[in-house]
Amino acid sequence: MCGIVGYIGKKKAEPILINGLLRLEYRGYDSAGIATMEEDGIKTVKNKGRVACLLDIPEIDKLEGTVGIAHTRWATHGKPTDINSHPHLDNKKTTAVVHNGIIENYIELKEFLKNNGYEFLSQTDTEVIPNLINYYYEKENDKTENGFLRAISKTIKDLKGSFAIEVLNNDFKDKMFVIRKDSPLVIGKGEGENYISSDIPAILSFTRDFYLLEDYELAVLEKDNIEFYNLDLQKIEKTPKNITWDMSSAEKGDYDDFMLKEIYEQPKAIRETIGARITKNQKINLDELDFTKEYLESIDRIYIVACGTAMHAGLAVRKILEEFCKIQTEVDIASEFRYRNPLVTKNSLCIFVSQSGETADTIAALKLAKSKGAKTIAISNVIGSSITNEADYSLYTHAGPEIAVASTKAYTSQIVLLAILGIYFAETLGVVEKELEKIKEELLQVPSKIEDVLKDTSKIKVFAQKMIKEKNAFYVGRGIDSTVAMEGALKLKEISYIHSESYSAGELKHGAIALIENGVTVVGIMTDPDLKHKTISNLQEVITRGAKTFVVTNQDLENVTFDEVIRIDEISPYISPILSVVPLQLLAYYISKEKGLDVDKPRNLAKSVTVE
Ligand code: AGP
Repeated sequence: MCGIVGYIGKKKAEPILINGLLRLEYRGYDSAGIATMEEDGIKTVKNKGRVACLLDIPEIDKLEGTVGIAHTRWATHGKPTDINSHPHLDNKKTTAVVHNGIIENYIELKEFLKNNGYEFLSQTDTEVIPNLINYYYEKENDKTENGFLRAISKTIKDLKGSFAIEVLNNDFKDKMFVIRKDSPLVIGKGEGENYISSDIPAILSFTRDFYLLEDYELAVLEKDNIEFYNLDLQKIEKTPKNITWDMSSAEKGDYDDFMLKEIYEQPKAIRETIGARITKNQKINLDELDFTKEYLESIDRIYIVACGTAMHAGLAVRKILEEFCKIQTEVDIASEFRYRNPLVTKNSLCIFVSQSGETADTIAALKLAKSKGAKTIAISNVIGSSITNEADYSLYTHAGPEIAVASTKAYTSQIVLLAILGIYFAETLGVVEKELEKIKEELLQVPSKIEDVLKDTSKIKVFAQKMIKEKNAFYVGRGIDSTVAMEGALKLKEISYIHSESYSAGELKHGAIALIENGVTVVGIMTDPDLKHKTISNLQEVITRGAKTFVVTNQDLENVTFDEVIRIDEISPYISPILSVVPLQLLAYYISKEKGLDVDKPRNLAKSVTVE
């Protein structure tokens, strides 16, 4: 996902564009650029690197224009380089475009344009857009606004994929053209000025009146007028929405709480995290890493080090790393790792997972690993966070800002990215396994499987009612399901204040089952066909001792009756936590809401534990 911003008005565009990009940097981080309309036409300043790096480029001070477009990138096609940064221009440098999304048919469009004399400087998909607009504009040979609109319309009809596009053209110095399909884009209506952004919060400080473009709607912005068209260039009327939210609720949208919003954002967060890293029938694409087969064969152990939910995500990927890469993998709590003098050597690979990238224990553990000569990878959701600055390599989830203290979308995105990393290692090691291809396929499908769970949460809500008076609850599972049991228990603890602990189902009978009595809730997770019958018998043992049971599964339950069963889609056990956790997130959420607690800001907790 990338961030796009636009401004047209009376003020100098450059500082407004930079401000907007800085607020959108969570959407993309590896390169940035702006284009403004100057007296003598379009001028662009762009480079690889963070938004702030643009300010170090001398040319930026010469941008006086009051019309401009801007972009901060998360690379999908083409490595982060100056040339691949947006805005992109056509060969004649008369049309500038910024784009958020993926043009799926860019290769055939590039060939078509090359056959018509166009050349390409970048490796991006986006560069076909300004050239295709120019191609049709010149073919139209109609230098009026209608001629240019027809060129844009014909271009859009040729594009396959997702896009939010802003366009400038030298023939229309006082206009900006925008159109979207599937990628977000909002228009902010000001007094004598108008704004464009990928999301409302980035420009909420300038205006509260927004037009929300539907797919294939086109808008022509001037500083004091906006015209809307459909793709056939028929004028359409749109009324602005007045956003009364404050900044915080602007980010909450229609949800009561950030946590609920973030639970529902998981499909999108996962799609954005996958990005162009997984393409059907192709190897994993992880440009950020340069590992070789020889290096991976030299690794004696992988350590995954994190805290809380991030550590649970690490636990979920051990199965892939050990079973396919055959590399022994240890998952450590950072606050333990840093004090136990771990046997880390230069042949160790240490992976540090942290949503905030600011967790003190995790950063300290990272520094310790580096001091022992290990290669280090940071997995984080926050661009430029401390952990990513410290690690040798950084991989970002693209879950978007996670505001609620209880982590949800970051957790599932972390598992997705860790699974992608594990498959990348296996492919680099030359492992050929049908199961790996199946896992890649299923990663692409998991967003829609989560959407299926989110479609009907009524049974979870009803069961939550039965738990609000509980003092204790158990979460049990075996193998990969035991890692989700840990995450489910943590969710309940931290937002409902009900004591809940997770247990490997097979371990219950070694003591904890003494705590099972009438009315205690036991949550069971079963997604591994090889282990489910064992877990079923463990659950039968607690049922006979009076427990009530809430089961999340995609397995046949062998005619055993449980108080509630939430069925999820079939999914490979290697990545099932991404799906099986969702009912547990919702269960904790509904219980907390029912108890009238502050779901987003639970007592005693902070979103990022930056102290020991
Ligand atoms: C998760 O719901 C908790 N808020 C907490 O366990 C969190 O995962 C942990 O503090 C680690 O945070 P980090 O991912 O930002 O490092």
